[in-house]
Amino acid sequence: MVQAKTWILTKPFEGFPQHSDFELKVEELPEPKDGEVLLEAVFISVDPYMRLISSFSVNKGDVMIGTQVSKVIKSNNPTFPVGTHVVASCGWRTHTVCDGTGLVPIMPDWPQDVSLSLALGAIGMPGLTALYGIEEVLGLQKGETLLVNAAAGAVGSVVGQIAKIKGCKVVGSAGSDAKVAFLKELGFDAAFNYKTVGSLEEALKKASPEGYDCYFDNVGGPFSTVALQQMKNFGRIAVCGSISVYNDTTPQTGPYPYLTMIFKQIKMEGFMETRWGHKDPESLKRLMGWLKEGKLQGREHITKGFENVPAAFLGMLKGENIGKAVVAV
Ligand SMILES: NC(=O)c1ccc[n+]([C@@H]2O[C@H](COP(=O)([O-])OP(=O)(O)OC[C@H]3O[C@@H](n4cnc5c(N)ncnc54)[C@H](OP(=O)(O)O)[C@@H]3O)[C@@H](O)[C@H]2O)c1
Repeated sequence: MVQAKTWILTKPFEGFPQHSDFELKVEELPEPKDGEVLLEAVFISVDPYMRLISSFSVNKGDVMIGTQVSKVIKSNNPTFPVGTHVVASCGWRTHTVCDGTGLVPIMPDWPQDVSLSLALGAIGMPGLTALYGIEEVLGLQKGETLLVNAAAGAVGSVVGQIAKIKGCKVVGSAGSDAKVAFLKELGFDAAFNYKTVGSLEEALKKASPEGYDCYFDNVGGPFSTVALQQMKNFGRIAVCGSISVYNDTTPQTGPYPYLTMIFKQIKMEGFMETRWGHKDPESLKRLMGWLKEGKLQGREHITKGFENVPAAFLGMLKGENIGKAVVAV
């Protein structure tokens, strides 16, 4: 008999999530039946979407949603022998019994010197989001200028690096001086701390006086209202995330973008990376190739211990992470 530790929601989030919204519970798991496996969590991901999606998909007493890299430690399913590592959407739990549905094996030739935690970051969902946003949504071309916000985070840091690989000028915005220094290390052409610049409009103009061809938007809200004005005519905007509104209890209203979009003839497209799921195996190989060639860095912000998953989640929402926020169980 295995005991699984789980983090459940004590109540739906209201505004910014609190430690008291989570409770650690221990559950006895049954032995895996025919066709089933027992998974043990190795790395647990904490992501902004969990705040958003849990509002309408997680009820009081439910285990918090999320993905993890886990190891098969018992198996009655020949597709997933003992020792296999998988990406599993089984939430914040140390152990899980499941029948294998939805488990995604780590790519077969994953290099030994690359941490499996990157399967939750640069060589996983956030990396794919960056790649698809750039290639499928923006159609970024060599020589163009791209703006990305939350630029030092899991998605943003990969966006900037791919744009550099493609021969573009990259401007990044992030919420601390340490993050700005990191962006410069990554080769961003310009980076600024949006919390201290005073005028965002001036910072955007200074970084690219001629404006922006593409804007990869992770933040939304007032930032985007200002950024929209700095787009070039026929600019393209990939609406990836809107983290500045995820904790709102009352929806924000604001200046509406339509007139600027008309006069600048801007194209804006929201997307979810799952749209291109059929391309994932090939895309992950490309991301891994860039990593191995030294063109892509997969910086991570690792928190240790299953007991610290809520703290890691709250820290990520507060902007404490540089790179992908992950918990090493
Ligand atoms: N469409 C898709 O398929 C898809 C997939 C993955 C992620 N996303 C979205 O992409 C965005 C980035 O996700 P991620 O996983 O890469 O997270 P992340 O950037 O690693 O972490 C979140 C970051 O957001 C910033 N932030 C938090 N609150 C903010 C606020 N009120 N205003 C401005 N910035 C704030 C913080 O950075 P600063 O210190 O720089 O403020 C924080 O570090 C999120 O909006 C997420 O929902 C979308």
